[in-house]
Amino acid sequence: MWLSCGCASKYVVSFSRRVFKSYFHVWGRWRCNVAALMPEAAGIEGVSGHSALQEFSVSNSGSFWAAAARQRLSWISPFHTARDCDLSRGEIKWFEGGKLNVSVNCLDRHVHACPERVALIWERDEPGSEVKITYRQLLEMTCRLGNLLRRRGVRKGDCVTIYMPPSPLAVASMLACARIGAAHNVVFAGFSADSLAERIRDAQSSTVITVNQGVRGGKVTELKKAVDTAVQSCPTVQQVLVAMRTDNPVAMTARDIVMEEEMLKEDLVCEPAAMDSEDVLFLLYTSGSTGKPKGLVHTQAGYLLYAALTHKYVFNYSDGDVFGCVADIGWITGHTYSVYGPLANGGTTVLFESTPIYPDPGRYWEMVQRLKINQFYGAPTAIRLLLKYGDQWVHKYDRSTLKTLGSVGEPINTEAWEWYHRVVGDGRCPVVDTWWQTETGGICITPRPSEPDAEIVPGMAMRPFFGIKPVLMDTKGKVLTSNDTSGALCIAQPWPGMARSIHNNHQRFIETYCQPYPGYFFTGDGAYRSKEGYYQITGRLDDVINVSGHRIGTAEIEDVVNQYSAVAESAIIGYPHNIKGQGVYAFVVLKKGVKVQEEELSRKLNNMVSKKIAKYACPDFIQFVHRLPKTRSGKIMRRVLRKVVERDLDGLGDLSTLDDPAAVEEIIQGHRELC
Ligand code: WTA
Repeated sequence: MWLSCGCASKYVVSFSRRVFKSYFHVWGRWRCNVAALMPEAAGIEGVSGHSALQEFSVSNSGSFWAAAARQRLSWISPFHTARDCDLSRGEIKWFEGGKLNVSVNCLDRHVHACPERVALIWERDEPGSEVKITYRQLLEMTCRLGNLLRRRGVRKGDCVTIYMPPSPLAVASMLACARIGAAHNVVFAGFSADSLAERIRDAQSSTVITVNQGVRGGKVTELKKAVDTAVQSCPTVQQVLVAMRTDNPVAMTARDIVMEEEMLKEDLVCEPAAMDSEDVLFLLYTSGSTGKPKGLVHTQAGYLLYAALTHKYVFNYSDGDVFGCVADIGWITGHTYSVYGPLANGGTTVLFESTPIYPDPGRYWEMVQRLKINQFYGAPTAIRLLLKYGDQWVHKYDRSTLKTLGSVGEPINTEAWEWYHRVVGDGRCPVVDTWWQTETGGICITPRPSEPDAEIVPGMAMRPFFGIKPVLMDTKGKVLTSNDTSGALCIAQPWPGMARSIHNNHQRFIETYCQPYPGYFFTGDGAYRSKEGYYQITGRLDDVINVSGHRIGTAEIEDVVNQYSAVAESAIIGYPHNIKGQGVYAFVVLKKGVKVQEEELSRKLNNMVSKKIAKYACPDFIQFVHRLPKTRSGKIMRRVLRKVVERDLDGLGDLSTLDDPAAVEEIIQGHRELC
C-alpha cells in the first residue's frame, strides 16, 4: 500500500550525487542557512530594530524586497528590476529579469546542506501512523514525478490539476510541476465532481493527478470515481495519474496511469526548468461574489519569497522546529504554510490528513505531543469546537514544545482566543491571529513580528507585516486617516506575494481588486482601526460568506438551488453560527402552483448543493417564502434578509423603498417558526 509501511523507501534508491551535480552553480550562491538570516542582515544599512525595519520596508519597498530576494532565494540568474508595478492598471511585476526554480529553492539547496533532515511529517488519518520524509527523499520523489510528467508530454506553461488530500505525493506533485515549469491547480479533495470539472475546464488541464481513495476521520471517500465523473465533461483531459492511498483497487481506464509504478521507472535526476520570476507557479480557485470561482494566479519568485519570510517571522520559526499547519493543501493556507513557506526555509512541516475530533477531541494535542510540534496553526472553527469538549482533552497531553499558536481564515472571537492562549498554550505562547487571503499569497496583518514583548490584543490581527501598508476607506473612496474608525480595508502598495491576475480574465482582476479604490488593492473585507492603530477584521463587505473558514459566494449556492425545477428564485445569507463562524441560510421561493413536501425538498436541495459544490456549502436552514423583499427596481434587499437571520429586527432600517413591505412580515414570522 502507498507509503504506509516505511514506504518512501520504494522511491528512495541510494542517495545519488548525480542529483546535485547539475545544480552546483545554484548552491554556490547559497551562502548561509535560510532560517538563520534576519532581514536586517539583508544588506540594508543603517536600519536596526523592528520599527525602523518596518518603516523602511514600507517606504523603500523596492530596496527592502530586493535585498530579501537576493539573500533568501537561490537564483539561476539575477533580476535586474526589483519592482515594476502599477496597481491602478493591475500590472504587477517583481524581480524582472531573474530566473530561478522554486523546487530547487525548496529542495536541492537543503539536500545539499542536510539531506537527512525531515521535510515532511505526514500525519495520516490513523493516529500514530505518521510517515517522515527527508529532504533527500522528497527531492527524489519530485524528480521521478517531474520526469514522469515530462515523459507524458507535460510542458512548461501547462497546468496540471491535483485532486488529492495532503500527503507527500501531493506535495511532490506540486513541486514536480514547479520543477518542470508547469503550473499546478490543486482542487480541495472535499469538492464535488462538478466543482472539480469546472476548475479543470477553466484551467484547461490535460493532466489530472489523484488518489484511488481518500481517508479522513475514519471514512473513505471515492476520489478517483469523482475524477472519472468530472473528466466526462472535460475534453482537455488526456491522462489521469492515480496513486494508491488505500489497498482497494479502483476501475482503471485507458486514460489512467498507475502513478507509483510509473514513477519507479523514472530517473532520480530531473533537470529543473529555468523560470522567469513572473511565470505562473500555480492557480488556486476561490469564491468571489459571482457564481463563478476565480482562478487566482500566483507567480514564482515573489510568492516564494513572501511565503518564506512570513513563515519565518510571523511564527518565529527557527531551524529544527516542527511546524504544524493543519490546513488542507487545497486551500491557500496549505499552499503557503504547509508547503512553500516551510520548505523554502528548510523546515520540517506537518501534513495533516485527519480531523480535529478523530478519533477523539484530543487529536491535535496528542499529535503535538507525539510529533513535538513547535508552532501550531489552525482555524477558529476547530478551536471553538474543541473548546466545547472541555479542557481535559488538552490537559491530557504534553504541549511543552509549543512556542507559537496561529489562527487563520475567519475572525477569532475573544472566548476562543482566550481558551487557545490559556488552555492550549498554557498562557505562555503568543497567539497570532493572522489575516490574509488567497489573493494576498501570505499573511498581511498579524501581531508578530513586532518589537519583542509588544502587547498582543485578543481577537485582533493588529499589525501589518513588512512591506504592507493597510488603509481604510470611507464609502466615498476617501482614505480615513484617524484611528478608532472603521472602513473598507485596502492595501496601499503592491507586495511580492500578491496574486497577479485571474486566470483567463484579467479584466475581472482589475474590476474586483484595482478599480473599487483606484491605486489601491481592495481586499473585500471591512476592518476597524483601534485608538492604538491596531487592525481588527470585521468581515466581508461583499456577498461572500465564510463557513468554517471556507469561503463561498452566496451566488454560487443560489445558482445550484435555482436549478431545481420547482424553485423560482432564492437568496442565500450568512448568519452567525457559534461553531462555524457563519452558517448558510436559504430563502427559497417556489414556482407558482407547485405543491411540494417541504422537508423532502429541503433534503433534495441539500443533496444538490453537496453534489454540485461541497458539503460545507449546504444550507443549515431552508425557509420557503412566497416572495423575497425587493426594491422597486427588482433587486433583492439582502440587507433586510441579513437583519432577519441575525435577529436584529430593530436594525431593519428604512423599508420604504421596498416593493411590498408585507414580504418582510411574512419572512420574520417564518423565520421564528423555523429556528
Ligand atoms: C477571512 C484564507 C478575520 C477574510 C487565508 C478574508 C479572516 C478571507 C482572517 C480569505 C482573520 C482570513 N480574521 N477574517 N485572521 N483570515 N479571513 O481566501 O474575510 O480562503 O477575506 O484565505 O477569510 O479567505 P481565503
